[in-house]
Amino acid sequence: MKYKAVIFDLDGVICSTDEYHYQAWKKMADSMGIYFDRTINNRLRGVSRMESLEIILEQYHGPALSEEKKVELATQKNDFYRESLHQLSPADLSSEVKDTLDALRAEGLKLAIGSSSKNTRFILGQLGLGSYFDVVSDGNNITHSKPDPEVFLKAAEMLGFAPSDCLVVEDAVSGAQAGHAGGFEVACVGDASQAGAGDYNMSSFCEIKQIAAD
Ligand code: BG6
Ligand code: MG
Repeated sequence: MKYKAVIFDLDGVICSTDEYHYQAWKKMADSMGIYFDRTINNRLRGVSRMESLEIILEQYHGPALSEEKKVELATQKNDFYRESLHQLSPADLSSEVKDTLDALRAEGLKLAIGSSSKNTRFILGQLGLGSYFDVVSDGNNITHSKPDPEVFLKAAEMLGFAPSDCLVVEDAVSGAQAGHAGGFEVACVGDASQAGAGDYNMSSFCEIKQIAAD
C-alpha cells in the first residue's frame, strides 16, 4: 500500500453533519437578524466554532458585541446543533463509507480521525463508531484549527507515523490546506474536491481504496 494510515476529517466526510452545522448557524443568525447563506457556510468548513462565529459576524452591523455575548451566541448554536445530533444513528453512516473503511482496514491500514469539532466523540458514538478508529484527534486537543496542520500532525504523532505515510481525506478547502501545510497528501470530496484543493479530487468516497493501493 502507498500509505500506512488514512486520517479522515469527520463533518462532511464520514457523515453529513455539515448540513446540521448549517441549520444551527442559520437559526442563530436569523435570531440576530444576520444574513447567512450556504456560500458563507462553505467558509465555515473545518474552521473552529468561535472562528466560524467571527465569519458570520462579518454580516452583523449592530452595536459592538462583548466577548461574553459572542460566547453566548456560539453556545446557542452548539445547543441547536447538539439537539439535532441526537437524531443521528448508525443508519446515517452510509454503506459506501463503512465498506470503504472496512476495506482499508482489511488491507492493514490504520484509520484515524482529524477533526476541528469538539463534538467528535459524541458523533462517532451516535454513528456506532465509538471505538472504531485507531486514533481520534479533535477540537479538544488542539490550539489552532484548520488551515493550521496541528490536528493532523497530532493524529500522525498518535499513530506513530510520519505525515508522508498518511493520506488525509477532507471536504473543506481549509482542511486540504491544513493537510498540505503538515506535509500530507490530501484526497478531497465535496466542496474541496470541486475547488480542486486536493492531490486527488474524488467524485465518490470509495475511490480512496484505489488511491491507497496505487
Ligand atoms: C468542523 C466543521 O469539523 O468542526 C466546522 O467543519 C465546525 O464547520 C468545526 O465549526 C467545530 O465544530 P464544533 O462541533 O466543535 O462546533
Ligand atoms: Mg469537514
